Amino acid sequence: MGYGKNVKEIYYGGDYNPEQWPEDVWQEDMRMFKKAHINQVTLNVFSWAALQPDEETYSFEKLDRIMELVRENGLKVCMATSTGAHPAWMAKRHPDILRTEFNGMKRKFGGRHNSCPNSPTYRMYAPRLAGELAKRYKDYENIVAWHISNEFGGECYCENCEKAFQEWLKKKYGTIEEMNRSFNSSFWGHTFYDWDEVVLPNLLSEHFEENRTMFQGISLDYRRFNSDSMLECFQLEYDAIRREMPDVPITTNLMGFYKPLDYQKWAKKMDFISWDSYPAPEDSPAAIAIRHDLMRGIKEQNSFVLMEQTPSVTNWLPYNRLKRPGEMRLLSYQAAAHGADAIQFFQLRRSVGACEKYHGAVIDHAGRDDTRVFLEVEKLGEELQLLGDAFLEGRTPAETAIVFDWDNWWALEYSAGPSVRMKYLDAVQDYYTALFEKNIPVDIIGVDDEISKYKIVIAPLLYMTKKGYAEKLETFVKAGGTFITTYFSGIVDEHDLVIGAYPGELKELLGIWVEEQDALPEGEQNAFVYGGEKYSADILCDLLHLEGAEGLSFYEKDFYQGMPAVTRNRYGKGNAYYVATRSIPEFYQHFMADVLREAEVDAILDTPHNVEATVRENGKGRTLFLLNHNTFGVEVVLEQECEDLLSGTIHKAGNALEIEDKGVRILKLS
Ligand code: GLA
Ligand code: ZN
Repeated sequence: MGYGKNVKEIYYGGDYNPEQWPEDVWQEDMRMFKKAHINQVTLNVFSWAALQPDEETYSFEKLDRIMELVRENGLKVCMATSTGAHPAWMAKRHPDILRTEFNGMKRKFGGRHNSCPNSPTYRMYAPRLAGELAKRYKDYENIVAWHISNEFGGECYCENCEKAFQEWLKKKYGTIEEMNRSFNSSFWGHTFYDWDEVVLPNLLSEHFEENRTMFQGISLDYRRFNSDSMLECFQLEYDAIRREMPDVPITTNLMGFYKPLDYQKWAKKMDFISWDSYPAPEDSPAAIAIRHDLMRGIKEQNSFVLMEQTPSVTNWLPYNRLKRPGEMRLLSYQAAAHGADAIQFFQLRRSVGACEKYHGAVIDHAGRDDTRVFLEVEKLGEELQLLGDAFLEGRTPAETAIVFDWDNWWALEYSAGPSVRMKYLDAVQDYYTALFEKNIPVDIIGVDDEISKYKIVIAPLLYMTKKGYAEKLETFVKAGGTFITTYFSGIVDEHDLVIGAYPGELKELLGIWVEEQDALPEGEQNAFVYGGEKYSADILCDLLHLEGAEGLSFYEKDFYQGMPAVTRNRYGKGNAYYVATRSIPEFYQHFMADVLREAEVDAILDTPHNVEATVRENGKGRTLFLLNHNTFGVEVVLEQECEDLLSGTIHKAGNALEIEDKGVRILKLS
């Protein structure tokens, strides 16, 4: 829902830090915002120290002036609570607010995103500030949302967190026996007799590297606990705002595939999703698109807010390449094509000191309104104004879903064996890219989400099968659905305990059983033939037996030559596929083309390579986005008559539409 129902325009703006500037600059900012069609600002993201000089005093006078200024200038406000970095005095007087690192090192004051989530000081003062802010500014009707803290993340291994972890375990397991069972703690004599014997899993205890642990069960629970701890902090601030303002939507800015936080769980507590998209210069269009789809997916496929993107350049990469002319526009529309209802930047004016002074901004150090970046921002602002609410709150008509699960991600990548080369995101991206390149809309869903509405459900590397999930998949396939999973799936339950013969509870659905797994080191490969073409088998080769399924492909060499590498099981009215190894993009394209045909899933449109076609549907109809990610012009043949929403031109069905390099067309389908 983006900023909410009934918003009639695309909010366009971003992080604005006037507190870093003398007040005479503010008027110039207002002039320039107007020129760029900026209608929204995100305020107060890092002002805690300025707003609260000591335990009892709050000083809001400067923020009052800023709030007056932006209101007078007709700007909507996304109001942040400032709790992403605590004041220095607080750290000095209440050191429990400081975090302890993975290696046990207690931090001093510095940086940001630096508060221990279980610190009593933080848990008291952060929500108190949020509540004070809400009380003071609740009558400003131009506040369209609240933005709690900033990019929650990281972890803490302090004594308070350890105690809280013990409590968390007690609540989860009820008895020590149950905890011991789920940790399999009789291994290496780790049996616990009291909750306070459990210590945090880090370099001082169970870990020998960040991702290498001797007790997966404990490490996995720590991940869950840490995500929950931060979510509780979010909730405390949320409640403090809610007490003052019963209706305003509340969010926090997420970060796409951010491993430490289970965003599917977080989404349930957030009123709408907002997120910060900072693709690396080398990221493919599909790699960027999947993050938008993930962010849309975590809250029931609702639209979201692009809270931050850089208008031009980041500062934190080793080489901060400029977005080329047209690139920011293209990426903005790509976000919109995948569900964004607002387009915002970090930052509106570039700071002069500290580590982000060379980060891109709408207004850069020259302060001019005729820079390349400013003019591109202005041009896009003009277009967004013209588009109004044409596609706002529009849904993506996906018949294909890819399952993504944080617990599975954590457990899989903590696994000691069979291969460190198994990366969850790579496996998910394999399938997503094949679909993306065919213009097949995809929903990224969690294991709690309904699947009966899809024709195809793909769960790559579904290592962990949670309670009831196998039955859910069986029901889906029985009724005619198509299910695809891969090597190293169905192995463990939610405690990371092996279920039995692989693929565990998925055996019947898939009609196979897996006896062994051969991990191939880098450079070593097997091969298989699929549909007449030979493809490589890489990373892991499952050695499996058919128990009802048919083999579609077979390994070409080694002692398991002739064993199946791709299988299909007809189950009820549907099909369940198992791809027992990892292959190359050409295989996924070939395989998915066959599956899509069989499941009768159609592409949005046939387009030249690297030209994306995406649809959003709302009460006003269907909007087709055509995005040319190439650095040269292309022609796209339209299947339907449509109207170009930016130029007003009507295109007839069968017309070839020319799109310039990095060009975008936004078309209303009739
Ligand atoms: C993040 C933060 C911002 C800023 C940008 C810079 O997304 O939320 O405060 O630091 O990164 O890219
Ligand atoms: Zn802590």
